[in-house]
Amino acid sequence: MTLPASVTVRIPAKVNAQLAVGGLRPDGFHDLANVFLAVGLYDEVTVTPADDLRITASGPDAAEIPLDGTNLAARAAVALAARHGIEPAVHLHIAKDIPVAGGMAGGSADGAGALLACDALWGLHTPQAELLDICAELGSDVPFNLIGGAALGRGRGELLTPLDVRGPFHWVFAVADGGLSTPAVYRECDRLREASGTGATTADIADPEPAPALLEALASGDPAALAAALSNDLQPAALSLRPALADTLRAGTGAGALAALVSGSGPTCAFLAATPEEAEKIAEAVLASGTCRTTRVTTSPAPGATILPA
Ligand code: C5P
Repeated sequence: MTLPASVTVRIPAKVNAQLAVGGLRPDGFHDLANVFLAVGLYDEVTVTPADDLRITASGPDAAEIPLDGTNLAARAAVALAARHGIEPAVHLHIAKDIPVAGGMAGGSADGAGALLACDALWGLHTPQAELLDICAELGSDVPFNLIGGAALGRGRGELLTPLDVRGPFHWVFAVADGGLSTPAVYRECDRLREASGTGATTADIADPEPAPALLEALASGDPAALAAALSNDLQPAALSLRPALADTLRAGTGAGALAALVSGSGPTCAFLAATPEEAEKIAEAVLASGTCRTTRVTTSPAPGATILPA
């Protein structure tokens, strides 16, 4: 069997249509009902045989990516190689287009992409269930980046059930200057809950559940119904750490967005638009408001990690 000289995988970003955060668990994670929706912003990970593990990145925000063993792409290559008893001797190149540390699973995308790319480069044919297990070890969002589309994530977000979704839904993303740390946002969520007297642990907070109206809206493809059902329990925490995001959200709502919310742990803000024309108009207005660094217009759903033709 001839192995390819290199493999490139394209991986989508995500937005959380619902991020229902349960209590803090003894292992430091939170139980979630996490409705993931893949959106059409993509990173590409290219893998090529090398003497040892090496990682490079390109794109306007490449300087913000760690190029060492902490990068999820590197960790994915190491984990897959270890499972098969081989050396992770590979050059990983990340062409970065997903906002960095923005709440859109950009780092997780590179983990899923490197895993699929190395599997093909090394001719391993690892079953998808096993790839999903490795993804879950890498991070709570990584399994979703592999499958794409729409899915409900239970547990800490890694236990996926694919969901029916029609589209296209039209989105605008407002990318902030600088990222937010996901653990810091979860900690702030706990702090706000403690401060309001509800408590923050699994003993205090009911198990999070997906909203039936949201699942219906996704399946129907109706943007107004989706707008009414979007929710993010991390939004108060992201706004508490970055109060200026309220101005970004207001700019989108003022420009006619059907809904405005923080994407995941933020600080990227997501706006749902009724039409592609509305999306362009909202993007222009939010950028002109001076409340973000840049805006991106795209659609959902998007396919999961895909090997590109050589
Ligand atoms: O799984 P991942 O590495 O992406 O998680 C990063 C951090 O986000 C965790 O260390 C934890 O602080 C927080 N987190 C959480 N509950 C989840 C997912 C993530 O508290 N379900």
